[in-house]
Order: sequence, then structure tokens, then C-alpha cells
Amino acid sequence: MELQFEVNEELCIGCGECSKDCPFQLIEMKDDVPTMAKENEANCLQCQHCLAVCSTGALSILGKNPADSIPLPGSAIPAKQLATLMQSRRSVRRYKKDRVSPEDIAFLLETVGYAPTGINNQQVLLTVIDDPQIMDSLRKKVYTILAKLCESGSFPAGMEYLQGYVQDALVTGQDTLFRGAPHLLIASSPKAGPCPEADCFIALTYFELLAASMGMGALWSGLAKWTLTGITPEILAGLGVPDSHQVGYIMVFGRPDVTYRRTVQRDHAHINRVQQIV
Ligand SMILES: Cc1cc2nc3c(=O)[nH]c(=O)nc-3n(C[C@H](O)[C@H](O)[C@H](O)COP(=O)(O)O)c2cc1C
Repeated sequence: MELQFEVNEELCIGCGECSKDCPFQLIEMKDDVPTMAKENEANCLQCQHCLAVCSTGALSILGKNPADSIPLPGSAIPAKQLATLMQSRRSVRRYKKDRVSPEDIAFLLETVGYAPTGINNQQVLLTVIDDPQIMDSLRKKVYTILAKLCESGSFPAGMEYLQGYVQDALVTGQDTLFRGAPHLLIASSPKAGPCPEADCFIALTYFELLAASMGMGALWSGLAKWTLTGITPEILAGLGVPDSHQVGYIMVFGRPDVTYRRTVQRDHAHINRVQQIV
């Protein structure tokens, strides 16, 4: 991809911040003007730090107009508010049936695109079910297969531990895998990438917190992940998750049918404060 590294020399004040902040020092100041040599372009992470750090909006890369960025400092969230959000998010296991508006889902997914990825890989694929009817047909497909496996006692080797959960779900009619949620989100990333799992976890963490700030609930569902990846990979493929991808995790989300009135109280974080290196 063409980098389109461009500097508006009328606006540039020659401060060199773009050059200093470039992770690989690919930008050189020549006569107080930032330049990127052609041979450096292939090593550019495309992180856009040069565009973000420029105090006068003189620098454009990848065809981005700095005027289209959100000016900073802007509406920074007070730390206490963000901490309260982090402390108050809960694993939501009771959902309203109503769908979340397509606008809200689009806003969430687009914002998740701002999550960091290893070497700015930006390859996390967000597979989303935004139609609750499709979610219901997924539930049906998955539980039909699981019921057959329970009947025949033929869970794949290593996955027998799921049988207990599934049997409970089948007997009680409780949807332990998807918790009755109207929506599902799968984060996956190419296995060949530098850190596919970490990238997916970060993306889902961004999603969960932003969703909580919008009055939504979410649940990291290990049961859904283990089932779809380990027992019904054909269903996963049918949802459009490429075989070349590592599934980082699966989350369900929607409008909560439960209201938490206070935070939980965690005892302490496990901290190893290094005093010396032995
Ligand atoms: C990676 C991960 C997998 C999880 N899998 C499940 C799951 O399959 N089913 C479930 O009900 N809860 C699941 N949870 C939710 C945890 O049980 C929950 O985070 C924990 O009990 C603390 O509750 P809280 O999230 O409300 O603070 C999972 C959480 C994480 C982080």
C-alpha cells in the first residue's frame, strides 16, 4: 500500500516530534522538514503516530486528513469514572430478547477497531450475529448436535468435561452456552500473525467495556468457545470464521435483564513488587 507520506510545509514548524515518535525512526528531518525515504516505507507500521503527534496538523499519511481526527486533549474520561466502569462491569447471564440497534452495534465494532494489535497487524476479524433470529438458529443447531453427542456418549476426546454442562442445559432448558443472549461476537485473527490471541482478547475487552458504558451486558463464554471450536467447527466455518484463523474468544451480548445495584468487592490484586533482582 502506498504510504502517501505528505507534509504541508506551510504548517510544519520543524519540531521533529514526528521523527522522534516514529517507532522505527523512519522519518528523517531534512532542512527542518520531515521526510520518509522510499526505502523506509516498507518498514512503516502504519501506526499513524506521526499524524497524531503533529501539533499543527501538517502531516498526512495513508491519505488521512489530520482534520478528520478527533482533536486531543478532548473529552478525556476522568480516571475515577473509568475505574468505576471497570469495577462495575459484570458477566451478564440474563438478557432481554430485544435486539441492540444496528447503530449501537456498528459504533461498538468500529471503536473496537482502535484496539492495539501486535506490530499494528489490525487483522482481528469480528464475526457478529446481529440478528436474534440467526442467534436462535445457531442455538438450535448447536444444541441438536450436543444432544446427539450426549445420547451416544461420544464427546470428542479431551472434550468430555463439557458433557456435564451440556446435559444440565438439555435437562433444564437453560442455555448455558449462550445465556439466551440475542447477539454473539467472535474475535479471530490469522494464526500466522504475531499474536492472534492477545489481539483478540484486547479487542473483546474494548468491546465489553464500551458496551457496559452504553448500558449493555456481555459475557465471555468459554463454553461457547470450547463447543464451537472443539465440537462443532463446521458451524464455526458456517458462520464465516476462516479456517486459517485462531479464535481468540467468543462473547455474547445484549441488553441485560438484570440490574446490579453495587460493585462486587474484590480482595486484592496479586502484585509482585520487585525490590531487587536476585
Ligand atoms: C475467559 C473467560 C471465560 C469465561 N467463560 C464463561 C462461561 O463459559 N460461562 C459463564 O457463565 N461465565 C464465563 N465467564 C465469566 C466468569 O465466570 C466471570 O468473569 C467471573 O465469575 C467473575 O464475575 P464478573 O465477570 O461478573 O466479575 C468467563 C470469563 C472469562 C474471563
